Amino acid sequence: MRAIEQRAVDTYRERFAREPAVVCSAPGRVNLIGEHTDYNGGFVLPCAIERRVAVALGRADSSVGMLYSVDHDDEQPCVGERSGGWADYPRGVVWALEQADARIPPFQMTITGDVPAGAGLSSSAAIEAATALALDALCGLQTARTDLALLCQRAENEFVRVRSGIMDQYAALLCQQGHALLIDCRSLASEQVSLDLAAAGLSLVVCDTRVKRRLTDTSYNDRRATCARATERLGLAHLRDATPDDLARLVGEELRCARHVITENARVLAGAAALRRHDFATFGESMWASHASLRDDYAVSTVELDAFVEQAREAGALGARLTGAGFGGCAIAIVVSGGVEALMDAVIQVFAERRYQTPEWYVFSPAAGAEIVEVAR
Ligand code: GLA
Repeated sequence: MRAIEQRAVDTYRERFAREPAVVCSAPGRVNLIGEHTDYNGGFVLPCAIERRVAVALGRADSSVGMLYSVDHDDEQPCVGERSGGWADYPRGVVWALEQADARIPPFQMTITGDVPAGAGLSSSAAIEAATALALDALCGLQTARTDLALLCQRAENEFVRVRSGIMDQYAALLCQQGHALLIDCRSLASEQVSLDLAAAGLSLVVCDTRVKRRLTDTSYNDRRATCARATERLGLAHLRDATPDDLARLVGEELRCARHVITENARVLAGAAALRRHDFATFGESMWASHASLRDDYAVSTVELDAFVEQAREAGALGARLTGAGFGGCAIAIVVSGGVEALMDAVIQVFAERRYQTPEWYVFSPAAGAEIVEVAR
């Protein structure tokens, strides 16, 4: 059992004086390529990271079950209205399960995690995925993982009221260790693409610029709205179906957003093909191009993210780009493992000179998706 899972279990024992019936955990994610394509029915290529949210749960004796967050040291009822706090995510999952006609008995749950919040590493999807998988096991529902992902997305969109796409929940539930996951966000078909960076002497470096962003920020919804307008103008169901020729029929923001989505989808497919051949140099080229497109066409980068990508290029990285929604949060680079420290030093120095916040660093290997850790019999 991972330490984070053990913490959920220990806390459960302390608080509720018994053993949990189910223990689950789910990871955060980084997206290797394919940004702002999921809600346009396009392609994404995330992998799970070695940071997780763990939950321990069991049936409650009373009619109102309780959720206890170790990290917030706070207890909240399992069901209830949206309150703007951490409990909205597990409550949203209960709500979405009930909307899907599942009967959820009163339950009690402890939750803890080490996925940095607000950094664009999908801590909220990790909470939703761990909760959904655990409740599914508790109730013996045997819901398919793809359906659980949709259910978690519904919780996020309709209960928490953040209009995210399907990528994060899907990655949390379906990623596998040592692999990236190519997702077709229109059909929801997916493919595990082997990603053994270590064997190639490479590392995946994540730089959290610590510029906090929230998906409830209007900018994310603004971009979505622009894509929706472009899609309608072109008479399509999804912007993913647009071709380069269609761009001649668009102007201004709609043109720029559509151009990003069309070219980004092509980059994801080319990037996945390169990974299948273990051709990381070609994959890296797609990453640079993705960043330029997010910066110039989609306009979601920041000076910090751009500075990281510039430094990565100077340090000889194979590729680098912002990851997640943008407007702050994290950027990633694929670097020769021996060069990781030099890259970090260079970035830290430039950030200090420019009086940006001191960044936070992670080096991740593609980790396992959501798991049921222990089910008492
Ligand atoms: C956020 C959303 C995702 C996706 C990305 C941008 O992470 O949660 O659904 O839209 O932004 O690629």
